[in-house]
Amino acid sequence: MRTITLVGICCLYLSTFSCTNPKKEENQSIARTHQKTNFIVVNTNSALPEKVNSPNDNPLTPEKVALGKLLFYDPILSGDKDVACATCHHPDHGYAEFRDISIGVNGQGFGSKRDFKQPNDIPFVKRNAHTVLNTAFNGIDMNSQYIPELAPMFWDIRTQSLENQALEPIKAMEEMRGRRYSETEILDEVINRLKSISAYRQMFDAAFSEKEALNVMNLGKAIAAFERTLVTNDSRFDQFMRGDNGAISISEKEGYEQFKKVGCINCHLGPMFSDFKMHVIGIPENDKLPIPDSGFEERFAFRTASLRNLRFTPPYMHNGSFNSLEKVLEFYEDLSFGKSRNPLVPKEDFDPLIRELNLSVKEMGPIISFLNTLNGDEFDKEIPESVPSGLPVGGNIH
Ligand code: HEC
Ligand code: HEC
Repeated sequence: MRTITLVGICCLYLSTFSCTNPKKEENQSIARTHQKTNFIVVNTNSALPEKVNSPNDNPLTPEKVALGKLLFYDPILSGDKDVACATCHHPDHGYAEFRDISIGVNGQGFGSKRDFKQPNDIPFVKRNAHTVLNTAFNGIDMNSQYIPELAPMFWDIRTQSLENQALEPIKAMEEMRGRRYSETEILDEVINRLKSISAYRQMFDAAFSEKEALNVMNLGKAIAAFERTLVTNDSRFDQFMRGDNGAISISEKEGYEQFKKVGCINCHLGPMFSDFKMHVIGIPENDKLPIPDSGFEERFAFRTASLRNLRFTPPYMHNGSFNSLEKVLEFYEDLSFGKSRNPLVPKEDFDPLIRELNLSVKEMGPIISFLNTLNGDEFDKEIPESVPSGLPVGGNIH
């Protein structure tokens, strides 16, 4: 038992500091010693909580959720009134998008068929859209603890909390703002537009019992409240973790054992299968982008992705480089052999936990079967028939 606990502590320590810890080399050799001695990996994964925490100043109420949902689908939030949150986070694709990198402003069409209208002077959004599903739990640790006010957001964790996150795409030129308004003008413009629509005035008043309820802060709060209802905490894996031994098959259980043994769990830990930390793993660049995306602190580090609901959310990785789980696993196999797929990221720069990875072809099939137990289909797929602005629901996706 003592070794097991020790390894657990090492793993935690490594993953916490893997990017910045000056004692990197020392930690590495600790982990390697354990690898050789065929240790049993501590299981740090667990079911997602049945309830969601909200910030103290933004409790969940049905009024707020209903308002947030309409705002999520309403392109009134975008400069040219052509893009809604749902353009890139659509329930038909698990609240993500069936594209490698996003097209926001001046785009037309849905998912893989979406393209820029011509003429066009708007660049691609440089990253792959995360799913909004379970972002209510971003930052959750191995003990199922998390603070919604501090929840890490984006591939490079540049923003904290769903409330703050919701305002960022509105301000981003290529995502929703466009060129008509500046970054400092757009939020006031959006609030003025919402104020001119009586249904929104009434819904903000009902959702927030305060004077001047229709303001930027409450816009973020309403959208965040809706997002906190988009959770899948009853996947077959969750049922298994809550004691239903038959919820996942014998071969899926074997896949889970392989997942732990080969070292995936070192980063994909906790109930979200993510440590929410930055790691350098050298994903190949996306050719559509004019310059490489160097990620967090320009070190090509990105946040560990959650492994929940992968069935609904291909393609994978921060730039959608891989369109199937087979391709992802082949990539990790290369890493396992010390091969870099990104010339800008030499293998010396890899995260120490990647160097501990020990994956071969025979584990791939079982691991992919296991990952399928993490899909949960029970999320809100109902799309509003109309939005208060009268604009096309979800933006120019039809
Ligand atoms: C043009 C496509 C597009 C639109 C429109 C868009 N998003 Fe996103 N969203 C993305 C992309 C791409 C990312 C990842 C960006 C990054 O990490 O740098 C993202 C990330 C997120 C995340 C972070 C999830 C996580 O786990 O960190 C949330 C939450 C989110 N979006 C919600 C919204 C909301 C709310 C709106 C509307 C106000 C919106 N998005 C509009 C493309 C879009
Ligand atoms: C060193 C930490 C680390 C280890 C070990 C690791 N991963 Fe990852 N994983 C990441 C990071 C970081 C990302 C996001 C990388 C990016 O997009 O740049 C990721 C992304 C993924 C994705 C894409 C999910 C999505 O929605 O885009 C899958 C699938 C995945 N990992 C599976 C695995 C499997 C299976 C293993 C074991 C063979 C594994 N990972 C081992 C850190 C790790």
